[in-house]
Amino acid sequence: MITQTELLTKKGEHIRQMFGSIARVYDLLNTILSFNFDKSWRKFAVKVSGVTPDARIMDVCTGTGDLAIAYSRVLDSRGRVFGSDFCHEMVKLAVHKLIKRNLAGAIKVMDADTLHLPFRANTFQVTSVAFGIRNVSDLKAGIAEMARITEPGGRVVILEFSQPTNPVFKSIYYYYFKKILPCIGKLISRSKFNAYSYLPSSVLNFPDRNGLKAQMESCGLQDVKIYARTLGIVTVHVGRKLSTQTT
Ligand SMILES: C[S@@+](CC[C@H](N)C(=O)[O-])C[C@H]1O[C@@H](n2cnc3c(N)ncnc32)[C@H](O)[C@@H]1O
Repeated sequence: MITQTELLTKKGEHIRQMFGSIARVYDLLNTILSFNFDKSWRKFAVKVSGVTPDARIMDVCTGTGDLAIAYSRVLDSRGRVFGSDFCHEMVKLAVHKLIKRNLAGAIKVMDADTLHLPFRANTFQVTSVAFGIRNVSDLKAGIAEMARITEPGGRVVILEFSQPTNPVFKSIYYYYFKKILPCIGKLISRSKFNAYSYLPSSVLNFPDRNGLKAQMESCGLQDVKIYARTLGIVTVHVGRKLSTQTT
């Protein structure tokens, strides 16, 4: 049995097993626990990424593929979307979803660790991640790998949970996030890893908005913009790879 403390060290194998244990209910719980806001957050991340209809997009930590799907909606027939995840149960569900929605031709998903992406440098106009980078064992190395595969002038987009700033809203939200959400998550997922207790703990242990911006800048990303959504529950960071930066 992997403890919460062990999970928070974010050893890849533990994280992979935890997501494998909740994969089958992951989409359902996303909808319930976010009150269906998750879809609009991903849509917003696509909107602020500056993507053009002919773009090549890479969505890492893609899970069941929802951000990759949101990107595919704004591309034309010249565009391509790829998704990757190191949890095979998630990748299998993404593949089923794409087939069901007739999107298997437009989006390719694969097993891959975000720390070692099987692509050449400077390949994608946008490299994105939603609710994934927080779980990667080495945050800076994960962002650097995303930046590596992004073309010069392209964007790295990170959608992640963040901490609301309004003190009144924050106390109400934290009661839900720390006390109620883990109970609902446990009840429905029956995950032995307590994945939905790990969720608030990992968010509270994650760098704040400016901390994440600094990490992106330390990976060579410029003009990092920060967009808070839904009273700061989530934030989208968009950074640009220098036009002259080739790795
Ligand atoms: C919270 S889910 C997010 C899924 C999806 N992006 C979404 O918007 O719902 C996090 C995903 O990140 C994946 N993940 C965590 N660390 C990873 C790593 N180092 N490499 C690849 N995938 C990773 C997990 O397997 C899981 O599917």
